[in-house]
Amino acid sequence: MGVLNVITELSKADLLSQRVLVRVDFNVPLSDDQVRDDTRIRAALPTIQHLINQNAKVILMSHLGRPDGQVSEKFRLAPVAQRLSSLLDRPVLALSDCIGPEVRTAVQQMADGDVILLENIRFYEEETANDAGFAKELASLADLFVQDAFGVVHRAHASTLGVTQYLPSYSGFLVNRELSFLSQTLKRPDRPFVAVVGGAKVSSKIGVLRHLLASVDQMVIGGGMAYTFLLAKGHRIGGSLVERDKLEVAASFLAQAEEKGVQVILPDDHGVVSRFDDPSGFVMTDGVDIDGEWIGVDVGPKSIERISGVIASAKCILWNGPLGVFEVPAFATGTMALAKMVAESEATSIVGGGDSVAAVNQSGLADQMTHVSTGGGASLAFLEGSPLPGIEGLRRG
Ligand code: 3PG
Repeated sequence: MGVLNVITELSKADLLSQRVLVRVDFNVPLSDDQVRDDTRIRAALPTIQHLINQNAKVILMSHLGRPDGQVSEKFRLAPVAQRLSSLLDRPVLALSDCIGPEVRTAVQQMADGDVILLENIRFYEEETANDAGFAKELASLADLFVQDAFGVVHRAHASTLGVTQYLPSYSGFLVNRELSFLSQTLKRPDRPFVAVVGGAKVSSKIGVLRHLLASVDQMVIGGGMAYTFLLAKGHRIGGSLVERDKLEVAASFLAQAEEKGVQVILPDDHGVVSRFDDPSGFVMTDGVDIDGEWIGVDVGPKSIERISGVIASAKCILWNGPLGVFEVPAFATGTMALAKMVAESEATSIVGGGDSVAAVNQSGLADQMTHVSTGGGASLAFLEGSPLPGIEGLRRG
């Protein structure tokens, strides 16, 4: 059964004059009280606009950062309300709390089509503890609940799971879009289906690698974790990042892939430095081995060429994690080349995971991908096949 088949979609709800509590993920970067990247706010607009068009009363709730149950000025949502208001071209009332008398009064005074944004729900420790009383209090503000915060569906919090116990619950358009792209890709990919998985550590990506093995034809492994795989294959990796306690895990993954007939492509050469904090000493290796104490920080030109061939013949591409330390411009060549290859490919391209999304945004090519997920940890959890409490709650709702 498809993920979406058991969830009630928002388009089926009768919304006229209903008070609708919407969980959104407005955890966006701020500086000087200004929103620096409004991708997540824009991604929630279809649901919010639908609710407005249907003359519902829209009560938005989100977290921002990790204030650990304390009120913190730098994590207030007012700048987000301001940006949302200009995107919607209508007023958005930012409240200074998310529960209590002020909030109840504001909700009572709402007219159909009004939008309010509750204050950061993580100012209460009860949120992350999924406290039943807190969830009930949030739920008491509304007639129904909409889950549209894909970025937090892997969290079992009061605002993602708890409230579904008390209100009829629906999935929003963003959640539907994310789930259908991700699950369709894993279940019925066009072939060849290529996964590119990068990132620093085997330990944080092994779940994704193992889960993807069931559906991919080829897998490109890059980033810091590639050195553990290369060492497991008997190559020299110099002073590169390595998880020695994961060498067996890496070796057994490679054996499993071979058994399944999945080709694993590891870097053929590398960009290396003698000191991580000195990009000026950046050189390329001739081949796959890294000698002395040189540290691998990017893939080299031979690797890029090989990956380019794999991407060019793919019909479906899933990209999670960068190929090198792309945050340092001198070490970003491989990751930026990959972004360009994926953008130019005619394959269905899905980008998920915080770092690869940041890399795609840095490349300026995000709008040339088929789908760029708004979830960091959430898309990782999905790709690992881990439970998603923020979705499971909707099934019961
Ligand atoms: C994210 O930025 O990935 C989401 O907003 C989740 O945030 P969290 O990891 O603090 O729960």
